[in-house]
Amino acid sequence: MSVKPTKQKPGEPPTTGHSWDGIQEYDNPMPRWWLWTFYACIAWAAGYMVLYPAWPLVSAATPGLLGFSTRGDLETEKQRFAEANSAIQAKLVETELTQIAADPELLQYATNAGAAVFRTNCVQCHGSGAAGVQGQGYPNLLDDDWIWGGDIESIHFTVTHGIRNTTNDEARYSEMPRFGADELLDSTQIAQVVEHVLAISGQDHDAALAAEGAVVFAENCAACHTEAGTGSRDVGAPNLTDAIWLYGGDRETLTETVTNARFGVMPNWNVRLTEADIRSVAVYVHGLGGGE
Ligand code: HEC
Ligand code: HEC
Repeated sequence: MSVKPTKQKPGEPPTTGHSWDGIQEYDNPMPRWWLWTFYACIAWAAGYMVLYPAWPLVSAATPGLLGFSTRGDLETEKQRFAEANSAIQAKLVETELTQIAADPELLQYATNAGAAVFRTNCVQCHGSGAAGVQGQGYPNLLDDDWIWGGDIESIHFTVTHGIRNTTNDEARYSEMPRFGADELLDSTQIAQVVEHVLAISGQDHDAALAAEGAVVFAENCAACHTEAGTGSRDVGAPNLTDAIWLYGGDRETLTETVTNARFGVMPNWNVRLTEADIRSVAVYVHGLGGGE
């Protein structure tokens, strides 16, 4: 409750007139330092609103007299980096692919830039560690098992033109027939050839069926996968004798692959990445461990 401000005693500040259970409140002035800080803040805010973007309008804020914008900053930064990198990128594009590794400065730039390109564009299919996605046809790029070739020029070509896409005329292209779906083989023959693939990949198999399957394989599969089943890079037919599978090496998956075939597609990157970026990522992939 409010009471009349009591007369101040000598040497004491006046009270506000508030009283709670007889306890009263002194009416001290604001400390000077606080007041000046407060005024300074107001002045600062007024200046800020004039100089910097402040008032939100319909599509953008008032620009402010200094013309500052974080987007503008980003553009300047990007330009700064582009200028800083333009010389080495030009050199990267001019240098023979096979000679890049011989130049330590180029190699270091390309490996770092390529890692960044990879993280942005390739990890969704090939995995963050480039180990591929087992069973879904996205190959491991770390090992030395290559479908289309693991030297720097082959990798560069694969990345530039892509695989089995419809957007690039030079894309690597091959198509395994749909042996079951198109009735090129009956189900017995498919079962036989699957046993043969199990045999050449060193897995448990039915020897009698596999022996029949060897004949089916020689007639239907060897043209692309070779007689021994070791694959051919000319037609992108994977090696079937190692334990490395794009789609899977168990009986059920093999039957599915032979019946309906697969059609792994990779986009061509020449429309999305610059030549310097493609070269960088090719150098990066080549350097991952399986490069030839
Ligand atoms: C949309 C998914 C996808 C993306 C994104 C992708 N790839 Fe691929 N990539 C594939 C598929 C699928 C294959 C295997 C195709 C086949 O069966 O031959 C492949 C194959 C490759 C091969 C050939 C491997 C070999 O054994 O010969 C290389 C090299 C490669 N990719 C590099 C890259 C790089 C570098 C990027 C990023 C710039 C990238 N890929 C992005 C799907 C993708
Ligand atoms: C015209 C060439 C061609 C012929 C003929 C062919 N293949 Fe293929 N095969 C390929 C290609 C190319 C691939 C890569 C998969 C893709 O298309 O994505 C492949 C993939 C495979 C795979 C998957 C391997 C993995 O790593 O998962 C198996 C298994 C296979 N073939 C078995 C066979 C068998 C068995 C036959 C014969 C009945 C056969 N192929 C005939 C071209 C061929």
